[in-house]
Amino acid sequence: MVLVAGSANLDFVVRAQRIPAPGETVLGHDLQTFPGGKGANQAVACARAGGSRTGMVLALGRDAYAQPLKASLQSAGVVLHAQEFDDIASGTAFICVSDDAENAITVAPGANARLLAAHLPPLAGYQFLLMQLEIPLGTVIESARLARAAGLQVALNAAPAQALPLELMAMVDLLIVNEGELRTISQSQGSIVDAMAVVPCQTIVVTLGARGAVARKGGELHYQTGFAVQAVDTTGAGDTFCGVLIAQLAAGQAMPLALQFAGAAAALCCTKPGAQSSVPPASEVRSFLAERSASEPLAQQVLERYCQAIA
Ligand code: RIB
Repeated sequence: MVLVAGSANLDFVVRAQRIPAPGETVLGHDLQTFPGGKGANQAVACARAGGSRTGMVLALGRDAYAQPLKASLQSAGVVLHAQEFDDIASGTAFICVSDDAENAITVAPGANARLLAAHLPPLAGYQFLLMQLEIPLGTVIESARLARAAGLQVALNAAPAQALPLELMAMVDLLIVNEGELRTISQSQGSIVDAMAVVPCQTIVVTLGARGAVARKGGELHYQTGFAVQAVDTTGAGDTFCGVLIAQLAAGQAMPLALQFAGAAAALCCTKPGAQSSVPPASEVRSFLAERSASEPLAQQVLERYCQAIA
């Protein structure tokens, strides 16, 4: 079983030809709202991946935004441990998605900032605690401490980027970051593999966007190339990767296959708008992988060339 402790935001998404530069105004179109928040997105991805029950501890305002956030999690099968507050709004995020599927996100944390380690449910039966950095850092540190004491593995997606105290890194069994977050945490400008080497976590996974992902587990390196898709909105792709990866590992999958399944799910997420709305079920990921391995017999050679290039 996987417990996610993290944020839930209602995403206000406007599409525009391009993301505005500082000080610039652009005219967009199509304002839509979607259930989001890195924690909730990852919980939905974990639950949809199957193989492991998923719980989530979260904080919400007692307001109109909370309802769609709870409904999306529950319809994915996530068991909720929700703290609800009268005097603060649920988290919101303001997202501009460009015609080339990239995004710029500003989060108003609202109730997410009130989540405490004291809100964790009893931890017996859980294998993993998965967190992100849209809740207070103190909550992340204390929750990691409680989880470790209860025998759980601690997984941290260190997003949005911020430097991590050593006491936290020492408690993280599995760190998942993108390249920018890796630079912030490692303070290294060397190669990705060199930067990974200075991070004192047992396992580290670095997502590389459309180029795939690389993992270091103990002394071993694993690479997974990206899956080319027609992207319409990359929002939530990183979260899909994290949630699916943890579901796969909790179900006993080995790292190379877990990376492949998570990478395929993240690619599929980019083909639809929204965050949780675009997280694919496991059946869709399996069909996609079956199609791709039938139509791309050179994948292994591409992977090998990529490994040589990145090492
Ligand atoms: O990672 C994407 C998420 O970041 C969005 O859903 C938004 O809510 C922000 O948390």
